[in-house]
Amino acid sequence: MRLLSGFREEERQYIPFVFGAIFFALILGFPLGFTAAHAAAQGGTLAGRLPAVTQLHGHLQLVGWFGLFVTGMGLRLVPRFTGVKVRPASLVPLTFALMAGGLVLRAVSQPWADEPPLNVLFAASGALEAAAALTFAWVILHCVRRGRPDEFHYSEFFAAASVWLVVALLINLALVLDAAAGPEATVSVTRSNAVTFVLLYGFVSLFVFAVSLRTFPIFFGRRRADPRLVMAVWALANVGIGGFAAAVIWRSYEVTTGERVLEAVSFAAVGAAFLLLLAALRIFEGTPHRLRESARRSMAFVRCAYAWLLVAAGMQVFFGLRALWDERPPAHYEVDAVRHFLALGFVTSIIPGMALLVMPRLAMRRMQGQSSRLVALSLLVLLQGAAAARGAGSLIANETRLEEGFWTMTAGGVLGILAMALFAGYLLRNPQPAEIPLSARAP
Ligand code: HEM
Repeated sequence: MRLLSGFREEERQYIPFVFGAIFFALILGFPLGFTAAHAAAQGGTLAGRLPAVTQLHGHLQLVGWFGLFVTGMGLRLVPRFTGVKVRPASLVPLTFALMAGGLVLRAVSQPWADEPPLNVLFAASGALEAAAALTFAWVILHCVRRGRPDEFHYSEFFAAASVWLVVALLINLALVLDAAAGPEATVSVTRSNAVTFVLLYGFVSLFVFAVSLRTFPIFFGRRRADPRLVMAVWALANVGIGGFAAAVIWRSYEVTTGERVLEAVSFAAVGAAFLLLLAALRIFEGTPHRLRESARRSMAFVRCAYAWLLVAAGMQVFFGLRALWDERPPAHYEVDAVRHFLALGFVTSIIPGMALLVMPRLAMRRMQGQSSRLVALSLLVLLQGAAAARGAGSLIANETRLEEGFWTMTAGGVLGILAMALFAGYLLRNPQPAEIPLSARAP
């Protein structure tokens, strides 16, 4: 009930998003990833449903875990950064209801969507998620357009992230409608790759970059990132993301030299853009002296996350250029390794770090002086282990040592589930959701 009452107070509207995100990750997304890896390690097929379960896992992680968290924090932070309120305020719970409703329908239908009536629910899930994306993007673009001048250039990143969410979930809708009308419970595997790439790189990563561009200069008490470099990153990343998605969809129709080159070059270009962003943010330099001593601990998450971004982006440039040289598109397990280093190492590590810094529920607990050092350290170690094992599993599988690779992924799955359980337990243990308005804390 307390969760639902959150919707009535604007200050607490983000809470159902956060708990929804954790629900989808802990109860469905991570366990399904573990199940898929564990089955594949033993040569199993989950009674022929392994491809559908794998797709469901990827979708729930990207739209459930990341999607709900990012939209919830976006609807909280963007109005504060821009100085424009969400009106009507009911658009926030509407976005939640559409997105969570779509995710529930997808979860209950996809593995069995090869037969009626579940294929109808599968189709409806795509429609609800697309409607959620349109509502979210409308709010974000409205705030950005009407907001105060932004010298950090976070507005362009927020705008692009929300547009990419719409693009991804409209393509998803088309693919789901197509699959629901036929005898398959999986959407086109190649085209689905376009959706997952746009969600992870276009929507989630650009959103995290926007928050970083706005907050790091404040935490470290230094000048904003070089605007020309920031806009070069923005342009290169967006061109690369669009190029990769277009190439993958093109490949689903025909394999040509042009498609192969576009796919490899775009893959490398996005990696290069992310490396340039690291140079612009200078996250590994200096001390965040504008943060309280107790809050600096959270910076360990943020810095570890950006170290994974360095690893993932470096690999991405290497794999992209090597594929170009070898006259082939980037290999399936190369893309999968980078995707999981980015998803687990970068995004899943940065969520607790940023949450500890900007979420009132956690910030208040920190200010009350309750020691969370042990929890934070355990969470950090589990997340690093999960990211390393899951990504390494794909690198091993890429060397055609499939069984060994899937067992390594399975170990990553166990560590990931433990990390999520710890994070969820830590959030739920706080009995007193006293709130501090962000504007009173953020500089
Ligand atoms: C936030 C974390 C994660 C995200 C965002 C994520 C996302 C994805 C995505 C998008 C796919 C591709 C799905 C498709 O083909 O449509 C995938 C595949 C897969 N994921 Fe994850 N994943 C995450 C964590 C994990 C974890 C912890 C495991 C545990 C073992 C895991 C295991 C797998 C497996 C086995 C595959 C199939 C690989 C293959 O193609 O053979 N994932 N994941």
